[in-house]
Amino acid sequence: MAEELLLPTSENKSETYAALLPQIAALVGSETDLIANLANITAALKTAFGFFWVGFYIVKQNELVLGPFQGPIACTRIGFGRGVCGRCHATRQTVIVPDVDAFEGHIACSSASKSEIVLPVFDRAGNVAMVLDVDSDQLNDFDADDADGLAAILKLIDLHEEIGH
Ligand code: SME
Repeated sequence: MAEELLLPTSENKSETYAALLPQIAALVGSETDLIANLANITAALKTAFGFFWVGFYIVKQNELVLGPFQGPIACTRIGFGRGVCGRCHATRQTVIVPDVDAFEGHIACSSASKSEIVLPVFDRAGNVAMVLDVDSDQLNDFDADDADGLAAILKLIDLHEEIGH
């Protein structure tokens, strides 16, 4: 396994996502342990983009429970329907929040977080098994390039085993 990610020097997000995708594919393709793969995905994203916080919340019984992440300590449990993560889980859609203060019900794990994007991760049965939450300390930091780039990476996660529940 390569010890370091090879990343473009440009600031272009799409190019960085494109460069990251095959490297993350190689990383997770050579390992079957889900938590190990989730952990490396968060580390790769933090390294590539310097996100303030990036991590997974995993569906367990009737809530979302903190999984592998990079960044400051965070809320450990989010009830279904709560916050941006709960909205993503309930709607099965990617949610982009340009200004967290304008999102009613936003859960502030850190006052430094200003904008965020949350994407669903589906299991083989089509259920939302977890969400990926990315937070920025800048307003309006996420757009369709992030939604597309992150969704492509999340498709690499093979939820072959039942997690949570
Ligand atoms: N802000 C999220 C909670 C998770 S933390 O940001 C890490 C939300 O409203 O769901």
